[in-house]
Amino acid sequence: MHAIAVERGANRPVVVETERPVPGVGEALVRTLRVGVDGTDHEVIAGGHGDFPAGEDHLVLGHEAVGVVEDAGDTRFSRGDVVVPTVRRPPNGSNPYFARGEPDMAPEGAYHERGISGAHGFMSTYFTSPEAYLVEVPASIVDVGFLVEPLSVAEKAVELAYASRSSFTWEPESALVLGNGSLGLLTLAMLRDQFDFDRLYCLGRRDRPDPTIDIIEGLGATYVDSRETPLAEVPAAHEPMDLVFEATGYAKHAFETIEALAPNGVGALLGVPGSWEFEIDGGKLHRELVMHNKALVGSVNSNVRHFESAVETLATLPAWFRDAVVTGVYDLTEFEAAFGDDDTTIKTAVQFSAYEERR
Ligand code: NAP
Ligand code: BGC
Ligand code: ZN
Repeated sequence: MHAIAVERGANRPVVVETERPVPGVGEALVRTLRVGVDGTDHEVIAGGHGDFPAGEDHLVLGHEAVGVVEDAGDTRFSRGDVVVPTVRRPPNGSNPYFARGEPDMAPEGAYHERGISGAHGFMSTYFTSPEAYLVEVPASIVDVGFLVEPLSVAEKAVELAYASRSSFTWEPESALVLGNGSLGLLTLAMLRDQFDFDRLYCLGRRDRPDPTIDIIEGLGATYVDSRETPLAEVPAAHEPMDLVFEATGYAKHAFETIEALAPNGVGALLGVPGSWEFEIDGGKLHRELVMHNKALVGSVNSNVRHFESAVETLATLPAWFRDAVVTGVYDLTEFEAAFGDDDTTIKTAVQFSAYEERR
């Protein structure tokens, strides 16, 4: 079968031929429909994040998949069910994080991430998975099922942020998403649909006309250009923010978020930057966190519960948004286009096979 992989020493994806996997006990064989591409894939391809499976010369890419059960084996699924796989797998049998259903909270060394770190991903004609790591998706959203994984990451981070404010009466009115990439825009849409913010903002660094600015404004949010209004100046230019959701991977934003927050506010950090040394006024930021009861929370990955919430969220997002955010779906003959990264590209996917409804 075909797979899209990055080989050791290379920095671009290629098509390779691999063996069709055979499902074991408790596993399903899934025919891959579509697999999305995000900023993490670009970082993995560039060699800045993730790792190859031990002893292998390539890593099959892809962690945002949707597929259809081909062989349900002894699982609870039926042939034809549409499913989305979670990303993390235990490296050596199970461990307490996986046993609790919280692999997203496992420390490094206690997980592999399919398509990212230590385990092959889903960009292949078929993949297998234990049933515990498959979440069913209604056929009505099969075309955009590859958005479930990134949305689940947003669901988890916002849950953690709210949990950090749960010991008092917190009535957030304003939220700012940092980053107008696919994660930022999906989060903005989720915040608009599932929460009750009076005012939403999204920070980017693009000139108009730009498709992401059109989406931001289509969602009723205000576009903030970080070149004109650096993050720390957002309170003066707009207002202090109750919630900040960082999805730029721009390391200074982790610290500037503290200044952008309103008293009692919380910032969720999701970016995965490389090493970058710069100066900060640590005393000022420390005092600001303490004296105004602010919180910063880092968040990575997501578990089955977040995937289930993401399925519900995805089904409610307006069709115009889903159409605008997915800028390209490419089959294997033109897969390289899915890894393009210009200003017209927001979310792309590779299509391995088409969905045909069961009769
Ligand atoms: P992406 O497509 O690269 O999006 C990042 C966006 O941030 C881009 O649109 C970029 O603008 C914008 N940006 C970067 N620096 C900026 C600045 N200084 N001012 C304003 N805008 C800025 O990546 P993504 O897939 O959406 O993911 C976002 C980040 O989250 C990445 O770092 C990724 O690794 C991380 N991530 C983390 C998790 C997790 O579990 N924690 C999950 C998924 C992704 P331009 O396009 O104009 O350059
Ligand atoms: C993936 C997460 C993963 C994270 C760190 C993200 O792009 O969506 O599942 O945990 O990268 O590798
Ligand atoms: Zn991702």
